[in-house]
Amino acid sequence: MKAVIVYHSSHHGNTRKLVEAIARGRDVTLVDTSAVKSADLSGYELIGFASGIYFGKFHEDVLEFAKNNLPEDRKVFFLSTYGGRSNTKAIEEVVKGRSAQVVGQFGCKGYDTFGPFKLVGGICKGRPDENDLNSACHFFDGLS
Ligand SMILES: Cc1cc2nc3c(=O)[nH]c(=O)nc-3n(C[C@H](O)[C@H](O)[C@H](O)COP(=O)(O)O)c2cc1C
Repeated sequence: MKAVIVYHSSHHGNTRKLVEAIARGRDVTLVDTSAVKSADLSGYELIGFASGIYFGKFHEDVLEFAKNNLPEDRKVFFLSTYGGRSNTKAIEEVVKGRSAQVVGQFGCKGYDTFGPFKLVGGICKGRPDENDLNSACHFFDGLS
């Protein structure tokens, strides 16, 4: 199954670590929404959206990208990293409008120094770790 992952990762590159681990040795195209705002995804059967959680949702760039570029009737999955907990509600809302089939989601902790956490040196230091990356790859292999 031809796969693409559309992602945003600006805080500590936590989400980038996940998507790069998955793309390593697999036929997966990565699209970084901080550089690319639009792309033709019609050639992909499996489309992933990946993001850190910022103020309780996927980054606005990923939501916008999905709104503008997700073709109808695709298999879709979500990847996230977060300091507290994941939240896929906003991205789910977007893909729902495209008759997408959500085939799975994976999330794990990511190093977080936002706001007051900076004062204590951050939380979830060292995450995602090797274990997280292996779990993300295992998750992806189960999809395709
Ligand atoms: C501006 C900002 C807002 C954040 N809001 C949340 C949040 O609402 N919930 C949460 O669990 N983590 C939150 N975090 C922590 C990030 O989700 C976490 O560090 C994530 O791994 C960042 O991914 P990235 O390095 O790929 O950007 C926030 C971080 C930043 C910088």
